[in-house]
Amino acid sequence: MLGTELPNMFTRKCSRIWHSSRHRPLLRSSFYGLVLLIALYTLYHLVPRSTTDFFSDFLNAEADASPEIWNERAEQVKQAFVHAYHGYERYASPNDELKPISRGKINNFNGWGVTVFDSLDTIYLLGLNDEFERALTVVKQTNFSISVGNDGFAPYFETVIRYLGGLLSAYALSKDHMLLERAEDLAVVLDPIFDTPSGMPFYSVNPTTGEHRGPEIGILAEISSLQMEYTYLAKVTGRKQYFQRADAVSKTLARAKLRDTGGMFPIQWNLTSGEPIGYRLSVGAQADSAHEYLLKQYLLTAKTDKTSLEMYLRATTHIITNLMYISPTRHLAYVTDSATSTFWELGEPTHIFEHLSCFLPGMLALGAHTLPLDNLDEAGINFRNLGDQATFGYAAKGFKTLRNYNLTEIHLWAAESLAQTCWLTYADQPSGLGPDEIMMKTIHHDSPPENYLWIKAIEKWRKSGARGPVPGVADRRPVVYSERERLSGKGVGRDYVLRKPGYLLRPETLESFYILWRVTGDSKWRTRAWAIFEAIERETKTPSGYASLRSVEMSPAPKEDSMPSYFLAETLKYLYLMLSGKDPLPLNEWVFNTEAHPFPVFEWSEEEKKAFEMSNT
Ligand SMILES: *[C@@H]1O[C@H](CO)[C@@H](O)[C@H](O)[C@H]1NC(C)=O
Ligand SMILES: *[C@@H]1O[C@H](CO)[C@@H](O)[C@H](O)[C@H]1NC(C)=O
Ligand SMILES: *[C@@H]1O[C@H](CO)[C@@H](O)[C@H](O)[C@H]1NC(C)=O
Repeated sequence: MLGTELPNMFTRKCSRIWHSSRHRPLLRSSFYGLVLLIALYTLYHLVPRSTTDFFSDFLNAEADASPEIWNERAEQVKQAFVHAYHGYERYASPNDELKPISRGKINNFNGWGVTVFDSLDTIYLLGLNDEFERALTVVKQTNFSISVGNDGFAPYFETVIRYLGGLLSAYALSKDHMLLERAEDLAVVLDPIFDTPSGMPFYSVNPTTGEHRGPEIGILAEISSLQMEYTYLAKVTGRKQYFQRADAVSKTLARAKLRDTGGMFPIQWNLTSGEPIGYRLSVGAQADSAHEYLLKQYLLTAKTDKTSLEMYLRATTHIITNLMYISPTRHLAYVTDSATSTFWELGEPTHIFEHLSCFLPGMLALGAHTLPLDNLDEAGINFRNLGDQATFGYAAKGFKTLRNYNLTEIHLWAAESLAQTCWLTYADQPSGLGPDEIMMKTIHHDSPPENYLWIKAIEKWRKSGARGPVPGVADRRPVVYSERERLSGKGVGRDYVLRKPGYLLRPETLESFYILWRVTGDSKWRTRAWAIFEAIERETKTPSGYASLRSVEMSPAPKEDSMPSYFLAETLKYLYLMLSGKDPLPLNEWVFNTEAHPFPVFEWSEEEKKAFEMSNT
């Protein structure tokens, strides 16, 4: 009976409850059965449906699943990958992506077969030997000198993270030298893109002619998400020029004056002067991976690139103290953008929370796991000096606040509370899948935004004796609106409205669950990942693949004729790694690029480090 109000993935436990009295003596069981009935009846009518306990019962029962069950689930993810990849091979290869409803194809990323390149390492990890052989044939035959679409211009950022990342990662795993040669072929045709005094790349390049295109103003994520790929390419080829490409970008970032943005990088940069422009801050679209690569570059270089670590600590301090808020109803933590141009005080938040930003909990958890955040001296860093008043003025406040905390702890709290919200945006929907963008409601109209910063809630909680759960970290019950509630706008209990209701098969939430599961060992993340996979199977599967959704607010959900390559590269990879009992890529030995392509942490000698001139001052 309750099943109609809850997404399908939560209904199984209901039937289990009804069967649980079977083994008791008849009389007792019918007595308890009656009591249970009355209790449920009362619960159903008295308590708002969104607060019943079926949901947590479901999770608890699932957490007890045996290793065999988890292996079986991992196997189902593998079959999902095979279904998607075979559909692509049959109807779309060697074009870029499959159109999973019309069984068509699309060339949206240079026409080199982006799905093949992006899938290489997942295919290898899954042990799909025939598919790997066939993929190698495509890789061998691709002519990187001709780009299809966009007037023959290749968009640099996507080409690096999907193609170059895929090739390098598959090389790292398989040691097939052809993959490395092709990676270098690609880097060579892309190289004219760096024709700027700042060393930051333009938007796109024509690999046939070497011409480049794009405005003088670059977008943060697009101009600084290449450090991992280029540093690894330099390491395995022994060619320093690739490292210099990455290093030029890092040095430009490190030189930037960030007084007005509290040490965080704004979205826009002048590619000529290498200076940041304006005050727009975000961890979502246009910004995300630039922050991620600060941490990951440090980890990939076996904790050598200290400048990147310093930039990471500044950025995360600002994110935690200025961009994280807490919602009024369910006290959900979220991270948002600041759109204002007056950052002298606090930036005016937009309260938009993007699915893309759901990578952030994973990044923070990875940092808390791998860095000595509670003892930065060990890494040669003095946190006090990172955000001094003279350099940062008003924004130094955030650094001062965090000084009083165990940084490991607060980064983990931030990670867990954001991941809770990412999860609820899925669990709140009839489809069981999360929307691409929401806007949090604020009932604090009269109160300045500073009053409901997440860090303020933490401060208050601590001052009152740190009793009860950390703000934002506790499990909250999903609020699923019925169709009637949705259409009438009369549903209550949600903290947000949907701005972009589609689900684009994106990986970020699962990526963060994966890292949180590894870092905290809490199986609820894995259980939730499984619930999401079940929803993917139910709502997005087509006879030829998997389709993005136009809206998560209905089940069955209306589909879109698109299967992005990152679904195979990231979404299914993180799911598989999380559900299978094995850990072929331990987080302190492998670092995932922003497209989920793993690179091994460097093992290198002092001389090698010197040859790279890694800044270590
Ligand atoms: C790749 O395309 C370029 C430009 O059309 C052409 O000059 C070159 O010969 C092609 N390479 C191969 C191996 O076919
Ligand atoms: C970028 O910086 C250069 C050098 O300082 C300057 O000449 C140019 O006008 C700037 N471009 C924009 C769009 O601000
Ligand atoms: C900081 O917090 C972490 C995580 O709770 C804990 O393991 C560590 O011991 C703490 N460090 C200090 C110096 O108290």
